Amino acid sequence: MKKIVIAIDGFSSCGKSTMAKSLARNVGYLYFDSGAMYRAVALFCIEEGLVDDNGINTEVLRSRMDGIKITFEADPVTKNSITFLNGRNVEKEIRSLQVSRIVSPVAAIDFVRTNLIEQQREMGKAKGIVMDGRDIGTTVFPDAEMKIFVTASAEVRAQRRYDEIIARGDEADYNEILENVQQRDHIDQTREVSPLRKADDALLLDNSNMTREEQEQWLIEQFNKITKEC
Ligand code: CDP
Repeated sequence: MKKIVIAIDGFSSCGKSTMAKSLARNVGYLYFDSGAMYRAVALFCIEEGLVDDNGINTEVLRSRMDGIKITFEADPVTKNSITFLNGRNVEKEIRSLQVSRIVSPVAAIDFVRTNLIEQQREMGKAKGIVMDGRDIGTTVFPDAEMKIFVTASAEVRAQRRYDEIIARGDEADYNEILENVQQRDHIDQTREVSPLRKADDALLLDNSNMTREEQEQWLIEQFNKITKEC
């Protein structure tokens, strides 16, 4: 069967990565988390002292951008994708609230996007991939054969993120998370370079009241329909 590119975009914390991962596993495709790449650049900024009260030092970041290499490897046990920043496993660090606070401003910087988009296109060259993010169906792969745009209410999304952090054994404050979700929605939708929006040819999925199983089933049905037509 001909391999296709599957682009999954949507608001923060609406379960994109869970759905992208399970779809990739079900259809035997590779999964790429583009948000993890923006998070890794945000972590780099924090660790290299490029963030202060005035924001991000874009001039220094621009000069260091070529030295930022982000790669993915599968965890030998769980098979989950692990993010590496210049060869170091940063999977846990990039999910911290400290990174979440600055990732959207970092992702709004034009040269950061140009650089990461180029790397993302390289990852999709051979097709047979599922990539999730904010601009995958609109900018990175405008010709993707299957495009999904996911949404859910901000409260449902904040609750899911809260449950995820608690389940990990960490502490969390629901209101702080809700505020972060709403702030990121705003920055993502209003930024100048590839703002978050549904591609005209993307299928809309509101999963506020859907179970994981229902969602998984729905995605496989769409995949089967699309690949039959290809
Ligand atoms: O997991 P969550 O949905 O909260 O976010 P993520 O996918 O890890 O992405 C983190 C942030 O990176 C988002 O809030 C966006 O600001 C940015 N991002 C982006 O601008 N473009 C992408 N393709 C992916 C993420």
